[in-house]
Amino acid sequence: MERVLAYELARYIDQKVKLRGWVHALRPFGKLNFIILRDRTGLSQILIEEKESFKKIAHIQVGTVLSVIGKVVKSEQAELGYEIVDPLIEIESLVKDPLPIEYNKPEMNVDLEFILDHRPIALRNRKLQAVFGIQAAIAHAFRLYMHDIVRATEYFAPNIIGASSEGGAEFFNVDYFGYTATLAQSSQLYKQMMVGVNERVYALMPFFRAEKSTTSRHLAEGKQFEFEMGFFDHWHEILDVQEYCIKYIVNYLHEHCAADIAALGGQIIKAPEEVSFPRLTFAEAQELFFQRTGIDERQEPDLSPAAERELCRYSSEQFGTDLLFVTDWKIEKRPFYSCPNSEHPSLTNTFDLLCNGTEITSGGERRHTYESMLEGLALKGMSPDNFTDYLSIFKYGMPPHGGFGMGLERLTMTMLKLKNIREASLFPSDTKRIAGNRIKAKIFYGGENIRGEILHLLKNAEMEFQHLLHEPTPTSEDSARVRASKLEEGVKSIILRGKQTKKNFQVNILAHQKLDMKAVAEIIGEKCEFEDPLVIKERFGLEIGGVPPFGPLLNLETFYDEGITLSETVAFNCGLPVESIVMKGQNLITLVQPKIGKFSKN
Ligand code: 4AD
Ligand code: MG
Repeated sequence: MERVLAYELARYIDQKVKLRGWVHALRPFGKLNFIILRDRTGLSQILIEEKESFKKIAHIQVGTVLSVIGKVVKSEQAELGYEIVDPLIEIESLVKDPLPIEYNKPEMNVDLEFILDHRPIALRNRKLQAVFGIQAAIAHAFRLYMHDIVRATEYFAPNIIGASSEGGAEFFNVDYFGYTATLAQSSQLYKQMMVGVNERVYALMPFFRAEKSTTSRHLAEGKQFEFEMGFFDHWHEILDVQEYCIKYIVNYLHEHCAADIAALGGQIIKAPEEVSFPRLTFAEAQELFFQRTGIDERQEPDLSPAAERELCRYSSEQFGTDLLFVTDWKIEKRPFYSCPNSEHPSLTNTFDLLCNGTEITSGGERRHTYESMLEGLALKGMSPDNFTDYLSIFKYGMPPHGGFGMGLERLTMTMLKLKNIREASLFPSDTKRIAGNRIKAKIFYGGENIRGEILHLLKNAEMEFQHLLHEPTPTSEDSARVRASKLEEGVKSIILRGKQTKKNFQVNILAHQKLDMKAVAEIIGEKCEFEDPLVIKERFGLEIGGVPPFGPLLNLETFYDEGITLSETVAFNCGLPVESIVMKGQNLITLVQPKIGKFSKN
């Protein structure tokens, strides 16, 4: 029997069909039980009337892959309009573990870090699926526009290259057979070479940037839409191509991604076809920001993020478009290849495109003679020796040319009004993560997440433990009472701060012991004090009474007093003041792998 997809069910009323997909939810109501099944086109509902049949599959968890044969009926009650009755269910891939993140809820209601910690699974969430469905459509529309309308040729440039194209310090070096190579920050040099071949060229290229600061709009790896064209009468023709490109993409999304846009609550920028994006010079933009806010940044070489937001607000209020060009940037702020303005040599024929408050594109006209290019390199203190290939094109004939580079993630983020660029990257890399994974330890935030992870670790290690729910316990004596354990079995987890380095540490002692600050200072190498409970709440999402002896989950160097190693049984709060775990002392040491020393007084 051939597979039918969720969105095709309407065509099969009263017929038998075969569906395949993931269990999205199980809804047992006794007499009527439902399985919601997800496939690539959406959800479908399967009705199981018999208790016995439902019992047979009641142990399966969300994510289980099923194949279901049954009859399609129209149903007034079903949210989806149709349901499958009398199903024959086959398990194709059984999931036994409960979900680490509830991706099957419309709103996951957890913070972005937690989502990123569970990225491969979280991506199955409908909203996240919509974001990346739209991102794929953006890339497709860009290619259609460049290929069909601009009639440019796609090129494929190298990513491991000899020298930085954009200057500055934001590039990665890699060991290349004993030599040093650079990961491309853009394919700038290559797209210019390709203008000498095909006049109009485009690409969707990876870029790598060693951005040291963590912001909501910088990634260490991303994708750039590249475009470059030769022969124009005025360099503003590049801006025209860029403007139509955005409008083409927005139209394409409205035409092809309506369901995904709706899943995101209809949040998408405005770029009406009949409204031109305003074009302000850099000086005009600074003046406008000053006029509108009274904040004077007119002597600054760059626009601040606040100015970028204000300019887009202006564009939206005045013209009803979320985009705006800023042109004629100062030469010291633009890369060596930027073409100086013939009338004002301190300025360049360059532009940024801002969208909903953030730069999404930089571009402009390039220097196109050999002499001018040498001058540009000299101005930035760069050596021509690193650019032999590139420089050769200017010796052998380059027309006036220019183009732009537009960030895919920036475009996705601003178009869909997302708050953080990481939401627009499947597996984001930044100073803290490589391809989505935390670089150091896996860090958890908040009592519930931490408790969840501790339980997960214990179950994975197949260790025996008791998990207790109880009233909050202000003192160690109270804890011992509600846990029905001995005071000497309790573990007190203390977060300290180095007086000099301000670095946090975790020190654990038994409940009847007192911390010996002198001994702590010796082991840690500096004097320490107790961290402020408010800081602990903010930094780790934990109440003092809930801190568990699992410092590594908080990315803290963790110390255990040797007394703990001698305790047969231990008891501690596992992230929340109202939940405890009782387990074998040795097992705790095995799981946490702390540094062990003597820093307690009895
Ligand atoms: O402004 P950038 O550095 O310009 C260039 O790379 C030039 N070669 C473009 C040109 O044709 N003249 O980068 C272009 C765009 C930025 O506007 C931004 O959208 C994106 O690439 N981008 C980044 N996105 C996220 N994180 C980063 N670290 C980014 N760096 C650049
Ligand atoms: Mg830029």
